[in-house]
This record gives sequence, C-alpha cells and structure tokens, in this order.
Amino acid sequence: MRLRSIKLQNYRRYKSAELELPDGMISIVGSNGSGKSTLLEAFAWAMFGNQAEIVRTGKESVKRQGASPTDPCSVRIEFDYEDTQYTIERTMKGKNHTVNAEMHAGGSLMAKGTDEVSEALVKLFGMDHKSFFISVFARQTELNALTSQPKGDRKKMVIRLLDIESLDEAIRRIREDRSEAEESIETARSELNGPEGRPVTDSLAAEIGSLSQTEKELVKRKAALESEMKKTESVMAKLKKELPALEKMAKEKNALESAIKSARRESALLDEQKRELAADLAHLSSKEEEFKALEAKAPKYAKDLSEILGKKKETQTEKESVRSEMSELKAGIRQLEKEIKEINIHIDEITEIGPDSDCPTCKRRLGETYESLLAEYSAQTDERKAKITAANSSFSELEDRLKDCDARAAALEKRESGLRDKISKFEKLKFEAEQVSKLRKKMTDLEGRAARAVAELQTLEKKNVSISFDEKAYEQSKKALDEINAELRTADRNIMAINTELARAEERKTALSEKLDRLRQMEARFSEQRAKAELLTDLEQVMGDFRTHLISRIRPALMASSSELLGVLTEGRYNELILDEDYEISLRDQGEQHRLERFSGGEKDLANLCLRLAISEIIATRHGTNSFDLIVLDEIFGSQDANRKRTLLSTLNGLSNRFKQIFLITHVEDVKELMGNVILVTENPDGTSTASVVQ
Ligand SMILES: Nc1ncnc2c1ncn2[C@@H]1O[C@H](COP(=O)(O)OP(=O)(O)O)[C@@H](O)[C@H]1O
Ligand SMILES: [Mg+2]
Repeated sequence: MRLRSIKLQNYRRYKSAELELPDGMISIVGSNGSGKSTLLEAFAWAMFGNQAEIVRTGKESVKRQGASPTDPCSVRIEFDYEDTQYTIERTMKGKNHTVNAEMHAGGSLMAKGTDEVSEALVKLFGMDHKSFFISVFARQTELNALTSQPKGDRKKMVIRLLDIESLDEAIRRIREDRSEAEESIETARSELNGPEGRPVTDSLAAEIGSLSQTEKELVKRKAALESEMKKTESVMAKLKKELPALEKMAKEKNALESAIKSARRESALLDEQKRELAADLAHLSSKEEEFKALEAKAPKYAKDLSEILGKKKETQTEKESVRSEMSELKAGIRQLEKEIKEINIHIDEITEIGPDSDCPTCKRRLGETYESLLAEYSAQTDERKAKITAANSSFSELEDRLKDCDARAAALEKRESGLRDKISKFEKLKFEAEQVSKLRKKMTDLEGRAARAVAELQTLEKKNVSISFDEKAYEQSKKALDEINAELRTADRNIMAINTELARAEERKTALSEKLDRLRQMEARFSEQRAKAELLTDLEQVMGDFRTHLISRIRPALMASSSELLGVLTEGRYNELILDEDYEISLRDQGEQHRLERFSGGEKDLANLCLRLAISEIIATRHGTNSFDLIVLDEIFGSQDANRKRTLLSTLNGLSNRFKQIFLITHVEDVKELMGNVILVTENPDGTSTASVVQ
C-alpha cells in the first residue's frame, strides 16, 4: 500500500491542507499538540470513518472547532494497492454529523455509502479496521507497554494485538451453540419420553385413537336416539290429530251428563213438591166437607149475633139508668143526713142557751117559741129520717135490679163468645176450602211440569246413549300423549348430553393432535439437533486445537520475523531474538543468550520495535496480505537521548527496502537533518494548523 496524497478540510485543527506524499521514510515534525497524529488519523478516518479506535472523543469532535455549520468537513485520500489506484472521499455534514463516503477504483466508482466503503475495504485488504490499525499504526505507548507489562499481561497483550481474542469469541459462540443444542435435545428428550420411558407420541396417538372410537360410538348412539325420536314423533302426530275430536266428544258428553243430572234433580224436586201438595190436599179436603156442612148455617149466625148485641146494649142502658138512679138516691140520702146534722146542731145550740136566750137566727127572745122550736126541729128530723128509710129501701131494690142486669149481661156475653167461635171456625173452614181449589190448580200445574221434566230427561238420556264415546280410550290417549312428550324431552336431553360429550372429545382430540404434531416436529428436529450438537462438539474441539496450535506457532513465527528484522537493522550484529513462554525477550550475542536487561537502551528499543513490527507483519500475512508495506510509527523515540535517536533513525532507514513508506511522527526537531522527507506541521495564531512538505 502506498499513500499518494491526503487533503483535509475543516478536519480537527486543519482548515485546509493538501499533501502529496513521497515514497520512503516521511517524517512528520511539529510541536506537541500541533496536529501531527491528526494527519494520519485523518487517513484512517477517510477509510473507516467514526470507529471508536479512530475517533476516541465522539464524532462531534471531528469537525474543526470554529468552522461555520455550513462548512463541510472532509478528507480525501489517494492510495495505490496491488497496482490499482484508489481514492476515498469522506464528508461529514449538517447538525447530525451525517457521514457520506465514496470510493473509486481506477477512476470508476467502486462503493458509495459508509457501510459499502467499509465492506469494500474489508474485502480488499482481507481484514477489518481493527486488524488494519494494529498492523499499520505502532505507537510509542504500545512499545512501552510491551516492555513494561508484567509477565502474564505481556502475553495477553501480544495475544490481543494478534487478535486471538476473536478466535476465543468464536470458540465461546460454538460452545454456546452446542450447549443450546444440547439443552433443546434434553428438553425434547424429556418431553418425548413418558414416565416409563415409553414415547409420549405413542400414548398420545393411542389416546387420540380411543377418542375417535368414543366419538364414533357417540355418533351411533345419537343417530339411534334421533331415529327413535322420529318414530315417537310420528306416533305423537297421529295422537294429536285424533285427540281434538275426542276432546269435543268428551265435552259434549260431560255437558249432557250434567244436564241429565240437573234434569233428574228437577224431576225429583217436582215429585217432592207433588207429594207435599198431595198431603196438603188430603188434609184440606176433610175441611172442605166440614165447610159445606156448615155453609147453610152461616146466615143464622149473623142474625143471632146482632140480636145478642142488641140485647147486650139494652141491658147496658138499663144498667146505666139503675146506676144513675142509685147515685141520685145516695145523694138525696147524704143531703138528708146533712140536714139532720144541721138540725141537731141547732137543737144543741138552743138547748145549750135555753129558752131565755135570744134566737141566734132572728135575735128575738125565744121564750115560749123555745119549745115549739124544739118540736119543730124534732118534726123536721123525723120527717127526714123517714125519707131516708124510704130512700134506702128504693136503693136496695135498685141494687137487686142491677144484679139481675149483670146476670143477663153475663149470659149474653157467653152466648156471644160461643157464637163468635163458631163464626171464626166457619171463616177458617171457608178459607181452607178456598185453598183447596187453589192447591188443586197448583197440583195440575205441577203434574204438567213433572211430566215435561220426565220427558226432557228421557230425551237427554236417549241422546246420551246415542253418543258412542269411549272415555277409557280417551283417557288412555291423553296419558299416552303425556308419556310421549316426557319421552321426547328425555331423548332431547340425552342428545344434548351426547353433543356436549362429542364437543368435549373433539376439543380434547384437537389439543392432543396439536401436541402430537408438535412432538413429531420436535422428533424431527431432535435428530437434526443431535447431528448439530455432534458437529459443534467436533468444531469446538477443532477450534480449540487450532487455537493451541496458533498460539504455539505464533511464538516461533514472531521470533523468526523479529530476528530477521533485528538482523537487518543491526546489520548482522544480532541475528536472534528469543521469546520465552511469557514473551520475555532475550537476544543472542556471540552465541550466548542474554535477557534484554543486559543490553543498552537503544538496543532494547530496537528489539521492542522489531517485535512490534513482527506483530504487524504476522497480522498482515495472516490475512493473506504481504503487500502491506506501509507503517506509521507515532512518537517511538520516547525519552531517548539524541545519540540513540540518531542511531534508531539511521537503522530505520535500513527498513526502506522492506516498507514502501514509513511515516515517522516526532516532535523532536534535532534529528531533522537526518530525515529525507519532512512534513512540517505548524500552528497558526488563529488556532489552526498548516502542514507542508519541506524536503
Ligand atoms: N475539532 C477540533 N478543532 C480544533 N482543534 C482540535 C479539534 N480536535 C482536536 N483538536 C486539537 O488538536 C490537538 C491535537 O492534535 P494532535 O494531532 O494529537 O497533536 P500532536 O501533534 O501532538 O500529535 C490538540 O491541541 C486538540 O486540542
Ligand atoms: Mg501525536
């Protein structure tokens, strides 16, 4: 590989820089931080872009600080590789730092796009960007690390530089794949085998078979039930057709029978009424005769009664007149007795005062009138007493007459009441006799009604007899229909139960079939996985062996390569660089092997550089590239004194027939005159840098 030119625009410190690069040793000189490493970082960036190994601070830091947002950041490189000229241009634009890349080969477009360019380069060099950097860039830090690492770590670092790690990664992946395959084999085995080691697929298939059998039987049972149901339904249809007529008949018959019953009741009632009426009539007909016998006497009863009533009135009148006579007499007697009392009072008065006193009435002197007056009074008393006696005798006569009147009145009263009894008896008889005729009429009526009732009853009975209705048959039909209905319901339920069972069986069968399918697939995969696991086991073995082999080969290869380089660089003084198990360096000096500590600082640096260059070479050859004739040595002088720097520099010139280009980056200017081509990097006052080829 030969880098022809590099052109930067707004790349880190560089606003713009364009360099044509010669062959041979090219020194890049400038003060610390001026942008020397940046130049070769830009070369790597153009090829592989924002990789962590290149842009350690992030893609935002790539574009020149202070550049305007619209300013493009770009790197364009031109290089030759195996007789072809390539150009790569990479740009970064916009806020999002969008990167674009284009690669041309021999003037024509080879790849466009960041990924495409990377891919093309990997194909071209046969290595990825990591291997590319390790083989092309050697830094002082690495050389220091190689010498100052503790024993075990040095070996690790060499292995890391040689990227044996990717082999380890591959082995780890193989192991992972194998254990994954084994795991899935184990899972499959445990799933495929039942508890007694019998294949689960067998028992699944058997269960599916028995489910199918069960389903068949269920379907058969269902069909039998359905045909049975159909038959029963036709019987039911027939029964249903017959029943309405029978029902109508039953209703008629019922109505007729209840009509007969009520007609019978009616007839019996009429008969009863007739009987009662006949008894009444029998009883009343004797009264009728009695009435007829008495009927002639009736006018006389009235005449007798009025006569008695007339006599009763007469007697009453007489009694009243006797009573008034009697009271008159009594009043007269009382008057007379009162007069007698008054006369006696007069007599007593006169007798008391005597004849010489004045008359109390006429106030004249009584004298001789006294006696006559007394006589007069006595006469008056006598007269009145006689009258009383006469009145008393008349009174007792009247009393007798009154008694006679009472006797007569009592006799009359007795006669009246006897007569009145007779009259009322007659009246009663008369009423009863009248009733008889009424009852007779009623009887005729009743007889008519009874006869009609009997006739009606006969008609009804005749009609009843005429209806040919088989009650028993009717009841049986009804019962049969009920039974059929119950049967149909049961059958329905049974069919439903069968349907449920069928659905359940089907569901289970589907689930089992799915499981079976899955297990069958698993079986198929099982053997695949077994083959794969076997293959991976073999591969793991082979890779492990390969790694061991590689590591065992690396040391001799490194020794051979670095010994050869050392021979060239020391012009045959040291021809053998020896690495022990821990990659500790020894040199053979005049047939004797000595640890590196024995040698001078410059010799130590040289040995380390040879080992580092040998690593680059091995990587390049391992990837099938031997035209990797470009190396970048970044600050490899370290803190060597001027003498050693000179010696190293002049020895490096000895490599110029092995490498087409050697880029030597250094901030030390005191060896400048020893360098062929120099690129001088200078810092400008505005913070940018300029690079130019000066020799
Ligand atoms: N995007 C950038 N814009 C401007 N300066 C930058 C940018 N990125 C890095 N730098 C500066 O570039 C310098 C590092 O350049 P470098 O090439 O490593 O120096 P050296 O010459 O020592 O190898 C530092 O001073 C750093 O601050
Ligand atoms: Mg630097």
